[in-house]
Amino acid sequence: MKTLKIIVAVVLVAGLVLAFGACGKKVTIKEGVLTWATNAQFPPYEYYEGDKVVGIDAEIITLIAEKLGMKAQVEDMEFESIIPAVQSGKVDVGMAGMTVTDERKKVVDFTSPYATGKQVIIVKEDSPIAGPEDLEGKTIGVQLSTTGDLYITWDLVDEGLANIERYNTGADAVQALVQGKIDAVVIDNEPAKVFVSMNEGLKILETEYITESYAIAVAKGNTELLNKIEAALQELIKSGEVQKIIDKYIKAE
Ligand code: ARG
Repeated sequence: MKTLKIIVAVVLVAGLVLAFGACGKKVTIKEGVLTWATNAQFPPYEYYEGDKVVGIDAEIITLIAEKLGMKAQVEDMEFESIIPAVQSGKVDVGMAGMTVTDERKKVVDFTSPYATGKQVIIVKEDSPIAGPEDLEGKTIGVQLSTTGDLYITWDLVDEGLANIERYNTGADAVQALVQGKIDAVVIDNEPAKVFVSMNEGLKILETEYITESYAIAVAKGNTELLNKIEAALQELIKSGEVQKIIDKYIKAE
């Protein structure tokens, strides 16, 4: 009887220690800090205002961090470096108007989507290109490693139907278009609107190329962090705060 009591007590204490241990364990690389990787060349989702990264993603991740009792800290990098940074644990999450794709799902985990994007085509106002079917035989500019790059590569370049120029930023691709070095740019619709409004003589074609969902990427296996972020994100979606942020940056036409 006595031994049984001792065993029960030991099991109880062990359980408590485990439970507290789990609470105290840090879920991010720096305790109390949620480090997010982005490529701050993508207005209105992330861009610089002075030396500060602002935009839809910056505001949403700040609120998520707040809900988790943390501070959000941005790490600005090339778009193609974001997923490797998440995978290697250099950062906690990636948030960059990042489209959920099957390929990416193989290497990172995603939250539920928080926004929708579309790949659109930007051309010069007097361009003969009127839709995706006219891209054949043309030179198309994209931001390296984005879905615009992937789709144009798969659909046209790999088939020997078009040429591609890959730039470090969407803005660089748009500059090349303005200078007549390329025939079109394929990029997400909201950044497209910003870039077109900043340059003379460009237009966005009506027919979109493809519709996609943006979500936050977390390292595979870090389910604890993924679940926490997902719960905070869902609260912010339900309370209407995510929509409020989107509406602040994207004015209805
Ligand atoms: N939605 C596209 C993708 O996921 C483009 C994202 C580019 N984002 C950025 N911050 N530069 O590939």
